[in-house]
Amino acid sequence: MPDRTTQSWAELNVASPDDLAGLFQALAAELAADVAAAGEEAALRAVRDRWLGRKSGRLARIRDQWLAAAPREWKPAVGQLYNALARQAESEFARAQARFAAVQAQAMIVEDAVDTTLPGRAQPAGPAHPVLRILDRITDVFVRLGYSVATGPEIETAYYNFEALNIPADHPARDDQDTIYLAGAGEELLLRTHTSPVQIRAMQAQEPPLRIVAPGRVYRHDAPDASHSPMFHQIEGLAVDRDLTLGDLKGTLDHFARELFGAAATTRFRPSYFPFTEPSAEMDVSCILCHGAGCRACKQTGWIEILGCGMIHPALYRAVGYDAARWSGFAFGMGVERVAMLYYGVDDLQRFYSGDLRFLEQFAT
Ligand code: DAH
Repeated sequence: MPDRTTQSWAELNVASPDDLAGLFQALAAELAADVAAAGEEAALRAVRDRWLGRKSGRLARIRDQWLAAAPREWKPAVGQLYNALARQAESEFARAQARFAAVQAQAMIVEDAVDTTLPGRAQPAGPAHPVLRILDRITDVFVRLGYSVATGPEIETAYYNFEALNIPADHPARDDQDTIYLAGAGEELLLRTHTSPVQIRAMQAQEPPLRIVAPGRVYRHDAPDASHSPMFHQIEGLAVDRDLTLGDLKGTLDHFARELFGAAATTRFRPSYFPFTEPSAEMDVSCILCHGAGCRACKQTGWIEILGCGMIHPALYRAVGYDAARWSGFAFGMGVERVAMLYYGVDDLQRFYSGDLRFLEQFAT
């Protein structure tokens, strides 16, 4: 259909009011068809420009060419028909626009709807920290042997941390360099430097026979480096019964080493000194990396020291009111990070405390 609005008033050849009415009726029908054919918002905008565009829209042309050029007697009729067409255009566009908006709103409702039948989004659950995994493994070995788990406070008195353990006031372990003291307390309070005070607390709480392990945090005045940390973990063991001997101690710890490091692990005991045991020893395990052949981890010796141990010193029995003639027992203590480093082949202690997930996630199984 040719666009009649491009024609001049003269070209229209309007001869009667019917001609004029017919002309506007045809335009109204064309407008309605145009709007109906616009299937999307962009198309509707194009149709709107074609009809209502300020300068070259069809209605602008009707106003500027026909209405302006029509003879005086036609002007009122043309003006009325023009106004009616303009109103029709406005309302048709408004309705079409509202229709699109409704469709869009509906689509958004569908899109944003929450599907309550979907399973929840799983939060990634962190695996246990490698140090705690090892602590648990060590604890489990002894629990299977009938030991129970005991705990004690991390803030200790000098009495439990030192005196009762037969560590005299001038012992180097009491040096301020090692011990973190808490200022302001009436009693001499400190952060426990080892888990050994739990031995005293356990013996005070129970009569023999007694078998406990005490895992926990300990604190020392150390600058952090590849093998030191101001906080680390220890696990303490204590067994008191009739006639326990150094043979029981060695047998127990030998069993422990094989349970933790595998059946091929062997142990050796070297004489040592601790104020709370007599005799005292340090236990080495055959290097789990080279199996005794010698490597960097064991400094070519084939052995790695993992714990201190010994037969309980009679002074401890006196401190807790046990009859030293009746009971005998052994104790041991080990640093958990040290074992974890060995077990997992980690060469820098600080990695355990970095909170770096790329490091920690390697221990997820
Ligand atoms: N408490 C000692 C330390 O922190 C470790 C230790 C050695 C504990 C010998 C014991 C033991 O129970 O018998 O180095």
